[in-house]
Amino acid sequence: MSRKSDLEESWRRNAENWTRAVRDRLIPSRNAGTDAAIVEAIVRRKPARFLDMGCGEGWLCRAVAEKTGCAATGLDGTAALIEAARAADPNGSYRTLSYDDVIAGAPVPNAPFDVIAFNYALFEEDIVPLLRAAKHLLVDNGVIVIQTLHPDNDPGDGTDGWREEDFAAFENEAWAKMPWYFRTTESWETVISDTGLSFELVEFPRVGSAGDPLSLVLTLTANE
Ligand SMILES: C[S@@+](CC[C@H](N)C(=O)[O-])C[C@H]1O[C@@H](n2cnc3c(N)ncnc32)[C@H](O)[C@@H]1O
Repeated sequence: MSRKSDLEESWRRNAENWTRAVRDRLIPSRNAGTDAAIVEAIVRRKPARFLDMGCGEGWLCRAVAEKTGCAATGLDGTAALIEAARAADPNGSYRTLSYDDVIAGAPVPNAPFDVIAFNYALFEEDIVPLLRAAKHLLVDNGVIVIQTLHPDNDPGDGTDGWREEDFAAFENEAWAKMPWYFRTTESWETVISDTGLSFELVEFPRVGSAGDPLSLVLTLTANE
């Protein structure tokens, strides 16, 4: 199987475990500050329309809608996660759509958006076509917000390449391994330049003012 199909299969198999991990707050980095960081990066833009790509079970849509009153839309390629999102938020807008569907021009409900987020949801080697497609779903002055692993926290050798998440931190549960592509800071710069987007803000949320970085949060604009 290809890495792409392994990745899709991992989320199909992990959907129930993932929903439990998020909702029971079993992910320490999220409790330490990454959830708060992505919510803050989105809410400060005061979006009227927000799109969460790779929304999973939908927590970020629910959090942003609650804080801003915006119309939040969630897309994810994993049908079971979209079902979980709808069950938790029956009046919300959630759609099973893969990134390939979006790249191919599938209609995205409620577009265009003031803010589009990818919260730990970019795993493929070539993400340029997806980010270009997302850029076309923005209003003028809209932004794309990406939260991802901080490059210092690479479990590998610090150069671009494929890694494998085995979810070993979640003991006693059967998880399917997920392939994901690590990129360095320089590689992120190249990707963003290739999309035609520009960096508006680059943030490194930490625990306290001197703690290790928890993640990398990029706010990207389509403006030149
Ligand atoms: C680590 S989870 C993060 C979920 C959510 N953003 C959150 O913060 O809890 C990654 C999500 O990306 C979705 N995903 C991965 N590859 C995708 C693809 N090619 N198309 C659509 N969704 C995808 C998975 O189904 C999964 O829900």
